[in-house]
Amino acid sequence: MYKIVIKGGRRLRGEVSVSGAKNAALPILASSLLARGQSTYRNVPGLGDVITMRKLLGQLGAEVSGDGTTVVDTSNVVNFEAPYELVKTMRASALVLGPLVGRYGKAQVSLPGGCAIGARPIDQHLKGLSAMGARIELEHGLVTARARRLHGATIVFDVVTVTGTENLMMAAALAKGTTVLENAACEPEVEELGRVLNKMGAHVRGAGTSLITIEGVDELHPVDHAIIPDRIEAGTLMVAAAITRGNVLIRDCLPEHLDAVIAKLVAAGAEVTMEADGVRVVGKADIKPTDIATRPHPGFPTDMQAQFMVLMSKAKGQSVLSENIFENRFMHVPELMRMGADIVIDGHIAVVRGPVKLKGAKVMATDLRASACLVLAGLIADGTTEVLRVYHLDRGYDHLERKLRRLGADIRRVKVKGEL
Ligand code: EPZ
Repeated sequence: MYKIVIKGGRRLRGEVSVSGAKNAALPILASSLLARGQSTYRNVPGLGDVITMRKLLGQLGAEVSGDGTTVVDTSNVVNFEAPYELVKTMRASALVLGPLVGRYGKAQVSLPGGCAIGARPIDQHLKGLSAMGARIELEHGLVTARARRLHGATIVFDVVTVTGTENLMMAAALAKGTTVLENAACEPEVEELGRVLNKMGAHVRGAGTSLITIEGVDELHPVDHAIIPDRIEAGTLMVAAAITRGNVLIRDCLPEHLDAVIAKLVAAGAEVTMEADGVRVVGKADIKPTDIATRPHPGFPTDMQAQFMVLMSKAKGQSVLSENIFENRFMHVPELMRMGADIVIDGHIAVVRGPVKLKGAKVMATDLRASACLVLAGLIADGTTEVLRVYHLDRGYDHLERKLRRLGADIRRVKVKGEL
């Protein structure tokens, strides 16, 4: 068990490189199951959820080796079940459903229980697979999908779902005939998966838009692909620069993936400029109150809501943050309030009043982006902040505290004795 200890007050300076995108790496690693042989993935981030996906692929019989450059050999995949032990730690394990049914005609995945940020069912994933001819059975918390061969279908999502879109794209790649996905998720990671599938020999059109057409083929071949940079890590580092009145060059990020976040940082008074090899963020003393509403891409990403809330605690006035994607993604608020933040929650709306000088405290991380938010709060709080249960942070960030330390933060990881 570890905690992260931060002494607030340092202004971040220098430059930092963004790691590969967690939410691109997970579906892309799962897509290796669609082809027989060795696929190579570069710029794979070193973080908890990727380790879980590697373990899952291993349990299915694939051979997974390497780290930043990961090689997956699917020649000996013999098992088609994603066990509860792995699925309960990572909901994205459901991403093996589509590839397994698409390639092998069967899959068994433990239903992901709810998680900290909400119920997060996979009904849309299952609705799509059954429209493509899969027989779906639910029993003892396990979902089993079987099909001799999936056939194309037109599927309209009732709700925009990122991994739902990704699962059905992968299933459709080997189906007989054409599949049309309407009201599909437009996230950059969905677009990237479409690119990878086409490199494997699939015929995917429109990935990254809300209308995706996939013409099934009989076989796909392994791929060699480099993962795009993590836009949420980049956004988190941008907020870190803005709240500490720092001056940071964020390398290797794709600003076009962050239009909504950059627009809100500028509205809040930060200076954001595109440079040849990255995006520079300069934080200003005066932070303006700025409202945000989380929406599917290209709207403001829900995965940046908690981080932006820390910035708004410093704004002169009142900011309204509405969380429209998950029903319970304000778990960071009670902890921020223990540090002195002035926040009122009413349903899916949080009203943040500032400016408030946060005070260091012992705080508990509850989910991935909440833990990032508490680290950011520690950077600007008076005194020392200890963020406990940092395994949440490690699920989704590749050594965030090391990156912040290199930028001048007084931050370190400390082993904790006993259970916390
Ligand atoms: C992806 O999760 C991301 N994870 C999440 O990032 C991100 O917050 C989320 O998309 C929204 O952008 C990965 O890509 C691995 P959804 P996903 O299906 O696909 C409801 C992070 O911090 N829904 O788009 O699981 C669901 O309950 C993580 O990196 C259904 O009702 O999210 C939620 O309210 C957190 N039925 C909403 O849709 C379904 O079948 C969006 O969920 C599927 C989803």
